[in-house]
Amino acid sequence: MEIIVCKNYDELSKKASQFIIDLIKEKSNAVLGLATGGTPEGMYAELVKAYKNGEISFKDVKTYNLDEYVGLDGNHEQSYRYFMNKQLFDYVDINKANTHVPNGKADDLDGECKNYEKNLEELGYADIQILGIGTNGHIGFNEPAEELIIPTHVEPLVEETIEANSRYFDSKDEVPKEAISMGIGSILKAKHIILLASGANKNEIMKYFNNDKISTNVPASLIKLHPHVTIIMDEDAAK
Ligand code: PGA
Repeated sequence: MEIIVCKNYDELSKKASQFIIDLIKEKSNAVLGLATGGTPEGMYAELVKAYKNGEISFKDVKTYNLDEYVGLDGNHEQSYRYFMNKQLFDYVDINKANTHVPNGKADDLDGECKNYEKNLEELGYADIQILGIGTNGHIGFNEPAEELIIPTHVEPLVEETIEANSRYFDSKDEVPKEAISMGIGSILKAKHIILLASGANKNEIMKYFNNDKISTNVPASLIKLHPHVTIIMDEDAAK
């Protein structure tokens, strides 16, 4: 496991984007596993810049997002489909048909999960999987628990996550209570996992990467089992 500590958020964003830029240059039809949340926003801005400079093209790139809220339409401003369009997809030459975010409004949610996993499996999973980390150690929406679910599934959100994500909604009551999330297995099947952590509020949870343990109560710790992991954090998260 490689750990990179960056001076600040700006440097973290550049570092993270460089891994994706290098991958796309080498493999124009790369499969990217993408994350939402505040942490990767700077990385997406760097990717848009690299596209505008003519450094990379997303023409043949395929993307799979980690998760989506159940009940939110892709046009809802807090949906992760909307987030991805506004952070990246609308500003680069990607074919939207090659961008995948689970459909949180599917009539058959279990069918949607199975189909999402099947598509990922057929593609051989992500070349690079980007992850953020919750203050409780969740990755995607895989919340701390005694047992974790391997494939893409519907996950109830825990109170800490609802609280953390309420900053994006008018009130806490509006935060959906469930999400479709890639499972720990779907994440661990990526060829390279890059976990990003920024800010002092991630300090406590990042301490768990200083030991040789894993726990389903810290879902992010399971990536210690993966042979190719890069953790990029800023000094505030690393302190
Ligand atoms: P954040 O969210 O990037 O907004 O901190 C991370 C997460 O909850 O996975």
